[in-house]
Amino acid sequence: MFTAMLEDWIPADFDPFAAPRETGSAVGPKRAGNPGAIHRKRVVTTRMVKQDERQDPEFPINAGFKGIEFQQGEMHIKPGHESKFGLVNLYEYLARSDVTWNPSIVSVLEHSLWCPTTEEHRLPVKHGNDRVEWFIQINGQIDWEVCDQNTGELKAFVRMRPGDVCAMPADIQHQGFAPERSMLLVWENADPQMPEKIRTGTVPGDPDKMVTMK
Ligand SMILES: [Fe+2]
Repeated sequence: MFTAMLEDWIPADFDPFAAPRETGSAVGPKRAGNPGAIHRKRVVTTRMVKQDERQDPEFPINAGFKGIEFQQGEMHIKPGHESKFGLVNLYEYLARSDVTWNPSIVSVLEHSLWCPTTEEHRLPVKHGNDRVEWFIQINGQIDWEVCDQNTGELKAFVRMRPGDVCAMPADIQHQGFAPERSMLLVWENADPQMPEKIRTGTVPGDPDKMVTMK
């Protein structure tokens, strides 16, 4: 039903995953549909970035990141192990992201997920957290309105600049605003039991109580 509604409502020239400067208007008279954007599938890889057999598409550098110089690091690998390692410049990887406000999972270690993403304009929804989320601002700027999850009351306004780190509590909803294309690293614990653990008090939902930074 929801798929049919989206197909019916989203005009041909509007891509809900793109920034406003990259797409047409969402409003106006009904004009065809945009099934390609609506049914966009996340790229699921079975190989590391930069490894030989990787088949995933490589998108062009987004206009918002044109001019950035990406320096590759150095790898020194013992002969016979070359195929097991890949070197990635995260800035370049993110500069090629074709969507906004849509984190990619780039590393998984048990429940620890690194989900960097590029942001521009505004997060189209208010995201309700069900666990603590860590944010590391890589470049650009993102302003966050942090509200009480139940009442919607504004609790904090956070301006993040490059190098800033913040931890968002589990009991908030938040909406981000990025005046220019920006890079954000979202780090979270993907333990599927986490919401239940927080509800029952096994794990604190307040980052202040998780770590001691006194
Ligand atoms: Fe969130």
